[in-house]
Amino acid sequence: MKYFFLAYAIIAALVIGLLPMRGEKSPDTPLRLFPDMDDQDKLKSQKPSEFFADGAGGRHPVAGTHPLGFLPDGQTDLGGVPEYEFGGGAGYYETGGIEGYYSNGMPEELGLNDDNVDAFIRRGMEVYNVNCMPCHGESGDGLGVAASYGVPGIANLTLDNFKHPGYPDGRLYDVITNGKGNMGGYKHNLPLRDRWAIVAYVRALQLSRKAPLSEPSIQAAFEAQLKEEQGAQ
Ligand code: HEC
Repeated sequence: MKYFFLAYAIIAALVIGLLPMRGEKSPDTPLRLFPDMDDQDKLKSQKPSEFFADGAGGRHPVAGTHPLGFLPDGQTDLGGVPEYEFGGGAGYYETGGIEGYYSNGMPEELGLNDDNVDAFIRRGMEVYNVNCMPCHGESGDGLGVAASYGVPGIANLTLDNFKHPGYPDGRLYDVITNGKGNMGGYKHNLPLRDRWAIVAYVRALQLSRKAPLSEPSIQAAFEAQLKEEQGAQ
């Protein structure tokens, strides 16, 4: 046993002696047993790069793409409100609540009026179809493609308990922002305005669910679709 401890002490001293002390600076290339991702090819925005023919490290956006929150012409979306906003304030617009209580209605920061509300709801449809449809389905019934792969418990947004007035707009906005249960939030992915546009679109989905076919606008849309389908054949 005595020799074991002696051998142990000598080996330990050797190992510690051979390894340089952590934190010490050395001009030598370090010996790395597990390089992880310490060295990797990367581009820095204001630095040259030999990889690209033009020698620039910073790249322009790929043709046909544009940064989140901006339109292709570089303008922000839908009338004057800064689009590239993900959070910040503590008001109704940012949180969906007023003094701790969910409230109803579209916040005035959205600057909605008769001229732009149509485009706003269409924008809601666009972002809903990208972000929510896979789970909640095109009509909001909770039967999106994820459900067919077995994701359980996806809410049917057309049920009465998600409608006015029992389920306020601010609460819907809060679920989109922060998530709930198995659903993740979108506060890092969708700008404020887009989250409110989804609220408006989900309300439209809920209403259209109960609208009678005799309603003139629905009848017109139905006939237009029929015509389109017949034209395609
Ligand atoms: C990955 C699948 C998934 C996506 C994508 C998703 N949801 Fe959900 N959503 C769920 C699930 C699951 C629940 C049930 C959560 C629970 O109650 O635990 C839910 C619940 C909800 C609820 C009801 C919350 C409540 O109060 O009970 C609303 C409203 C909702 N989602 C809206 C949306 C909207 C709007 C989007 C798009 C921005 C979206 N969801 C995207 C899976 C998803």
